[in-house]
Amino acid sequence: MVAAPKKAVSGAKVERLPLSRFTTLGVGGEAEVWTVSDHEQLREAMEASYRILGGGSNLVVADAGLGERVIRLGGEFAETDLEAAPDSTPEHFVSGWVGGGVPLPGLLRKLRGLGLSGLEGTVGVPAQVGGAVWMNAGTRFGEMFDGLFELEIAAPGGVRQLSPSDLPWGYRHSAIPRNHIVTRIRLKLSRSTPETVGAKMEQADLARKGQPKMRTPGCAFKNPGGVSAGKLIDEAGLKGQQIGQAMISPEHANFIVNLGGAAASDVHALLALIRQRVGIQMELEYELWP
Ligand code: FAD
Ligand code: EPU
Repeated sequence: MVAAPKKAVSGAKVERLPLSRFTTLGVGGEAEVWTVSDHEQLREAMEASYRILGGGSNLVVADAGLGERVIRLGGEFAETDLEAAPDSTPEHFVSGWVGGGVPLPGLLRKLRGLGLSGLEGTVGVPAQVGGAVWMNAGTRFGEMFDGLFELEIAAPGGVRQLSPSDLPWGYRHSAIPRNHIVTRIRLKLSRSTPETVGAKMEQADLARKGQPKMRTPGCAFKNPGGVSAGKLIDEAGLKGQQIGQAMISPEHANFIVNLGGAAASDVHALLALIRQRVGIQMELEYELWP
């Protein structure tokens, strides 16, 4: 029998929920989910062992669920202030704070409408802002750190505000330690026009034409040494391979898709098959919880 979730003193919402509800793959057992609205609630949520959940678009969560708390950012962490801050210049726009829990696609739609350029390369990434910053999501057209001016990070030791230059970052990586929570960011973008920003977004989106539209956590492996992992998996003849209800997409071989009712163990088995058959070292892009 699973214990009922404890009640939070700070007013954070605590519920036992299936994580399949929050992952783009649609897989994952139950955990105690803490939805926090402000820093006081976040502090209490971080008092026990926890994981921070963003858009769930890079996760394979175990069917048995998790023993740790899962924190979700709501309230003030899901607000967007796109007023020009005093640091702005005629050339550059610096925003107010944008919450780590803000969905990235909606933010990009607003930036397009305002003609603000810098994050077009991230179009189509179904993340939250905090998750996208944590791993510097992007494409060859640009990445999250391109538009970053300042970020706020919370950890059990306290809250810090940093400049991106304080943190090394690279392809699908930032130096933000695991479980340090990106609570909000400020953007630095070039002033442009909605038409120009829209055209850049369409160009980046065009590169996704061959990607599957089914439930998936995105690309399984990072591209090793700049070579497409998808191409390598394809050349190993693995497109269409199915284990249980998980399948290596016939459209793009670096995507494992859920045919409906896939288990995390099906995905793990496909990942092992890929590793064995491709035969060169490839780093996993998504996370296996736990
Ligand atoms: P989650 O999946 O929820 O979590 C991933 C990791 O980020 C976890 O370690 C989590 O703890 C951490 N995290 C989440 N929120 C925070 C926070 N606020 N502070 C600190 N850490 C946090 N990625 C690309 O880079 N480029 C692409 O083109 C791309 N295309 C995709 C297409 C599809 C259809 C899908 C499903 C995924 C794609 N991805 C792509 C992968 C994914 O969107 C990115 O990895 C994204 O950065 C994950 O962000 P998230 O908010 O969903 O994080
Ligand atoms: N290719 C194949 N077979 C496949 C897949 C790809 O031959 O099954 C070939 C393509 O024909 C093309 C080349 O490989 O010639 C590159 O393919 P693609 O343009 O799809 O790029 P990618 O390197 O496979 C990367 C990112 C994606 C991002 C796209 C588009 C990684 C691991 N993947 O894919 O990011 O959306 O470019 O910009 O860096 C993600 O990280 O989750 C992700 C989806």
